[in-house]
Amino acid sequence: MEPTEHGPNGGENLADNLLSGSRFLRACLRKPVDRTPVWFLRQAGRYMQEYRDVRQHHTLVEICKQPDLAAEVTITAAEKLGVDAAIIFADLLLPLEPMGLDFEFQAGEGPVVHHPVRNAEDVRLLRTDRAADLDYVARAIQKVAAHFRDRIGIIGFCGAPYTLASYMIEGGGSRNYIETKKLMYSDPAAWTSLLDKLVSVLTEYCQLQVQAGAEVIQIFDSWVGSLSLTDYRSYAFEASRRLVQAVQQMGVPVIYFGVETAGLLSTMAQTGADVIGLDWHQPLDVAWREAGHAHAVQGNLDPITLFAPQEILEERVREILRSAAGRPGHIFNLGHGIVPGTPVENVQAAVKMVHEFSLEGARA
Ligand code: CP3
Repeated sequence: MEPTEHGPNGGENLADNLLSGSRFLRACLRKPVDRTPVWFLRQAGRYMQEYRDVRQHHTLVEICKQPDLAAEVTITAAEKLGVDAAIIFADLLLPLEPMGLDFEFQAGEGPVVHHPVRNAEDVRLLRTDRAADLDYVARAIQKVAAHFRDRIGIIGFCGAPYTLASYMIEGGGSRNYIETKKLMYSDPAAWTSLLDKLVSVLTEYCQLQVQAGAEVIQIFDSWVGSLSLTDYRSYAFEASRRLVQAVQQMGVPVIYFGVETAGLLSTMAQTGADVIGLDWHQPLDVAWREAGHAHAVQGNLDPITLFAPQEILEERVREILRSAAGRPGHIFNLGHGIVPGTPVENVQAAVKMVHEFSLEGARA
């Protein structure tokens, strides 16, 4: 049976009254909730048999480009886990194609961009007039939204300018980001132009997603932790800030996430993002203080804890909830994505734990 919503100002009588979707949205806006909302980064992926079955017949990009399949994968994962929000099944790199860069996912190696961007001329050739080609993602969101209605939250996403630029320049994942930093330091005009082009395409891409029914946008600055604070401020912050604010103008909250961001959180928060996504390296309360209590936070279980015995998993979930201390504006999540091989039953158990323990906390 689905619980019913008792209005936006339920206040003290919220226990057990909220639909998952409003539980999630309210937490993004730092409003009180009955139980802590929870979802997981990469909740649809190879650790799940249902996803592997679909993947046997289709490549990753095929799944992304067929709205029926992308919607099915999104819905199956969210329902199987019992989470409060569904993130649309897509990939960070999709916008590269309409900008003029071909890429593929090579088995076991991650993404490969065939002709990486290396100089001002490469940047000049990037197109910004074809973001509408990404409409297939919007059509998948429409299907997911039609399925869930208001039952659970619907999250759209894109990469942040710095993180996407790093893929375009390195041609794939990277350990040291040498080519990215070389371009950034040696040709600031080309660098700025690249980020401007990304902000333009990503803004239009997010607009498509919001119009289709995305209620929250998560901006993944996954590799921003490769920058010093000085370089983050000089080379990446402003483009992220503009993107965050452009998306907020569309009327939806923004979650801004990165990994290894301990030294960057207070500056990341200055983008104005509603929610700051935390990795698992710092205790949640320490990171939240750094991001500032004017922002909600999302996190921050080490994804590998999902391989641990039940007692350890329980301890870690409790520790994070204790650390959040019932303060409005906590969304439970991992500090980074679920990895292949994670036992699905542990992920399901973690969702139940978050709901049960946070309800106990609310009633204590
Ligand atoms: O439920 C979900 O979160 C699934 C939707 C999703 C995917 N990619 C599908 C995917 C999301 C939100 C992403 C975002 C993404 N893609 C990020 C940011 C998140 C993060 O992890 O920081 C990044 C950096 C990428 C780029 C990317 N895509 C890489 C580096 C890889 C290869 C790494 C790997 O795990 O193999 C991918 C492939 C990818 N994207 C997979 C999935 C489910 C797994 C590969 C497959 O199915 O073949």
